[in-house]
Amino acid sequence: MQLTVNGQVHEVDVEDDMPLLWVLRDELGVTGVKYGCGVAQCGACTVHLDGMAVRSCQIAAMSAEGAEITTIEGLGTPGTLHAVQEAWIEHQVAQCGYCQSGQIMQAASMLDFNAEPTDEDIDLVMSGNLCRCGTYPRIRAAIKTAAAKLREA
Ligand code: FES
Ligand code: FES
Repeated sequence: MQLTVNGQVHEVDVEDDMPLLWVLRDELGVTGVKYGCGVAQCGACTVHLDGMAVRSCQIAAMSAEGAEITTIEGLGTPGTLHAVQEAWIEHQVAQCGYCQSGQIMQAASMLDFNAEPTDEDIDLVMSGNLCRCGTYPRIRAAIKTAAAKLREA
């Protein structure tokens, strides 16, 4: 099948029902996407499908054919980071870092649909992304910074 990942088309020879997470990591070497639970309970594997945040451990590879798949590697570039990535650095959000690519992808997707999220909005949308290090206060602050930057832009 053909999968479009971060703007590049890839031919992959995998079972139709192989989870997208494993196609990205094991077939394409896109390791910014993380395995946490495998059962849609942690958010570590969050990527965008046509801009929507999804759990790649629950998406069959064939379901992603024809969609634009974006991972943390394709959200920004080293020279031009996404506003959420910039805000994450500004607030030094990450601790161990394991959950953070999923957190950033979830946050970036939310800001595409909600330019000025309240604390309640953030807590609701981000509640499926777990952080064992407890970085939630910094995540919330960084999302507000990113939202303000995006509104200015
Ligand atoms: S690995 Fe997909 S939600 Fe946890
Ligand atoms: S930063 Fe360690 S799990 Fe979130």
